[in-house]
Amino acid sequence: MSASHPAGLTEQDVLLALKGVQDPDLKRDLVDLGMIKDIRITDQLLELTVNLTTPACPLKGKIEADVREAIGRNLGNARELRVNMSADVRGKGVIEKGDIPGVRNVIAVGSGKGGVGKSTLAASLAYGLQHYGSKVGLMDADVYGPSVPHLVGASGRPMAKGERIQPIEANGLKLMSIGFLVKPEQAVIMRGPMLHGIVNQFLHQVDWGELDYLVIDLPPGTGDVPLTLSQTLPLTGAVVVCTPQEVALLDATRAVAMFRQLKVPLLGMVENMSFLDPPGGGDRMYPFGHGGARRRAEELDVPFLGEVPLVFDIREKGDIGLLHETLAEGSPSRPYLLGVVEALAQQISIRNLKAPRMPTLEIIS
Ligand SMILES: Nc1ncnc2c1ncn2[C@@H]1O[C@H](COP(=O)(O)OP(=O)(O)OP(=O)(O)O)[C@@H](O)[C@H]1O
Ligand SMILES: [Mg+2]
Repeated sequence: MSASHPAGLTEQDVLLALKGVQDPDLKRDLVDLGMIKDIRITDQLLELTVNLTTPACPLKGKIEADVREAIGRNLGNARELRVNMSADVRGKGVIEKGDIPGVRNVIAVGSGKGGVGKSTLAASLAYGLQHYGSKVGLMDADVYGPSVPHLVGASGRPMAKGERIQPIEANGLKLMSIGFLVKPEQAVIMRGPMLHGIVNQFLHQVDWGELDYLVIDLPPGTGDVPLTLSQTLPLTGAVVVCTPQEVALLDATRAVAMFRQLKVPLLGMVENMSFLDPPGGGDRMYPFGHGGARRRAEELDVPFLGEVPLVFDIREKGDIGLLHETLAEGSPSRPYLLGVVEALAQQISIRNLKAPRMPTLEIIS
């Protein structure tokens, strides 16, 4: 191939020049994955778009650099090169029984143990995915102890429009929680079949619209709700949250075993409350130990999505319904939370492009 390509450069030449440039996660050519779009060639300019599978792609910079390098090497630099980066979040590509029309990915956030930060992280992941430009919903499946409305500072009563229930919207997130349907001080008492009905209704009768990601906050433990969920729809996968403490790790191991039994793919483990940097300075502290979740994830062959420190800001902002501020510029938790968000988005993309979704578990009654 001539290095200058002064005239007559075609789209085909550009695609050929990009051969061998791979998505580092998927280990496949960008061209074969259909990620190279909108090629425009003029005498002075070569413009193209790399369409990623998630706007939260942590390898965006590397992919753009690889594309620039390959074009420069194979076609020379007679023209100005403009590389635009865009993203369309993909689902699994085939429609299965139980799928919510318009919702591309459904992610459950669970743990074995209570109080490890599932709800806080489920809401932070939802905000984080939205931060990168995705359309996101957050469903509270903790029907006995709903905390999503409080964490995101949302209130109101979901209204029915025809057959569909309209979700509550707050800070751009679409939300549904039993917390919008009962008084805060009211105890929710229901038997298994009612719970199944509510979860099913939240998934299939709520007008979620078009969503790239629907994040589901699970109650603690390995009980009815994850079972119901896995029977109701094909989940993209589950995230297991745990603290570095041995007892939390044991429970997390049980949660991993449960998801495996339910045939829900494991997208990864997050270590919450990993460390504490004293606000006034001083040595980093490890109140619950450190690194246990990473080691356990390796042992269990589950991706490790990252560490989130114990931060005063997270507790405080969650308590006053301003959790989105933990992702604001300058917030001490921001880099850690966004790191977990990117790792999760990456795992979802890998799963959707590489592995076929497992079938929904049949109901055994
Ligand atoms: N990284 C963190 N830094 C500081 N506080 C945190 C962090 N993660 C969670 N918390 C706080 O810990 C408490 C428990 O968090 P959260 O309610 O999210 O846990 P959970 O696992 O959903 O609990 P449950 O099992 O009751 O549903 C909350 O007060 C929350 O603000
Ligand atoms: Mg919770």
